[in-house]
Amino acid sequence: MSGNAGKANIGVVGLAVMGSNLARNLASREGNTVAILNRSYEKTQKLLDEHPEAGFLPARDYEEFAATLAKPRTAIIMVKAGRGTDAVIDELVRVFEPGDIIVDGGNALFTDTIRREKAVRETGINFVGAGISGGEEGALNGPSIMPGGSAEAWQTLGPILRSIAAVAEGEPCVTHVGTDGAGHFVKMIHNGIEYADMQLIAEAYDLIRRGTGKSPAEIADIFAEWNRGELESYLIEITAEVLRQTDPATGEPLVDVILDQAGAKGTGAWTVQTALDLGVPVSGIAEAVFARSLSSKPAQRAAAAELPGPDGTFDIHDADAFVEDVRQALYASKIIAYSQGFDAIVAGAEQYGWDIKKGDIAAIWRGGCIIRAQFLNRITEAYAADPGLVALVTAPYFADAVTRTQQAWRRVVVAAAEAGIPSPAFSSSLAYYDGLRADRLPAALVQGQRDFFGAHTYKRIDREGTFHTLWSGDRSEVSAVDTH
Ligand code: 6PG
Repeated sequence: MSGNAGKANIGVVGLAVMGSNLARNLASREGNTVAILNRSYEKTQKLLDEHPEAGFLPARDYEEFAATLAKPRTAIIMVKAGRGTDAVIDELVRVFEPGDIIVDGGNALFTDTIRREKAVRETGINFVGAGISGGEEGALNGPSIMPGGSAEAWQTLGPILRSIAAVAEGEPCVTHVGTDGAGHFVKMIHNGIEYADMQLIAEAYDLIRRGTGKSPAEIADIFAEWNRGELESYLIEITAEVLRQTDPATGEPLVDVILDQAGAKGTGAWTVQTALDLGVPVSGIAEAVFARSLSSKPAQRAAAAELPGPDGTFDIHDADAFVEDVRQALYASKIIAYSQGFDAIVAGAEQYGWDIKKGDIAAIWRGGCIIRAQFLNRITEAYAADPGLVALVTAPYFADAVTRTQQAWRRVVVAAAEAGIPSPAFSSSLAYYDGLRADRLPAALVQGQRDFFGAHTYKRIDREGTFHTLWSGDRSEVSAVDTH
């Protein structure tokens, strides 16, 4: 990977925290020489001053940046997704040549990446949309990386990205996800699952807090204990840290002084919008997005505060048993969220013509990314055992897990409903599970309703064909072809 004499083999454009950390990570790896460029030079200078050991090759403008890079020039854009990305792409296209590689490492919407890849490819330059997960710490010490783009670009980019990715079970957490927007698509699904994971954890916390009266610090101990078992994950680990934190100003648990209105930069919403277009139910992810929206409606919440209902407290006779029920409900709901997320990946791959290996995606999510967890080893194993798995939840390991946990899951959803505690992700995941396994669904009645008011026709269980009932006439049934 060594750059030509005095030249860099990789460059980074955009030196905010993520970009600076990624540049430092690249520079720390044997064989990498890193060129750096930022819109304002003071950030470049700051990075040079703080990390002289990195051996950065600084550039003041795009021409100098291009001249500093060995061919095929390879640059990673680390600017906030949006119009800024297009501006940087335009500048790089201006100074790069056919065969060079432009990587967008931001959280771009995959359809933007498909558009950009097509446009840039016409210049002979490779464009790669790469999801980079793990936040600032991951960028510095080893993220999970989900690049799309051409096989040609991957030839050059692969070794560079493997040199900086997190490592799980001895494997770098990076793979060539697929062509054009595949990488950003999978990163979007990662973020959707992240939303569901976070919402499920939050609901588990809320139920234990209200059900047992335990303090945040005591619940932190519970999460720390859970993190030593099948729920082991980065999000469970940091949840214990957040719950243990006291507010320096008041001495209160920090979680009690944080305003209960959740923000979102949009990747979870994109996941749900995309899944709706693909016809894939992602109920856990959707409820997580909606829960954030609901929390951010203070006027409606204030007005609704007077509405009657249980006060959210409930009598738990055996706190330990209830906590274990919540743990099992969390695990079962998590299985559904991941199963739905992978369904969306399969549907996206079919829609956009990507050859995405689900097992490879699970494998690179085992480390570096926000949803990294021991659980992903089980998913990797499930897809290795059966690459054509039609639903992750039906894999033997997960079917056993849901069999083992579902009574607790049901008890928790019932207790939450009876106490008036919102558990949208727990309850929607259970509804999805019961819907998926039902032998008959009320969709039959929906078809009848649609045929009644819209003559939208229906199929029958006992014979081929499409049918319509003459509802306003003698109510006989006709073959749909006769309805015109
Ligand atoms: C990651 C994270 C990151 C995400 C931020 C903000 O994989 O490192 O998913 O990409 O954008 O955490 O997410 P929200 O503001 O949408 O919660």
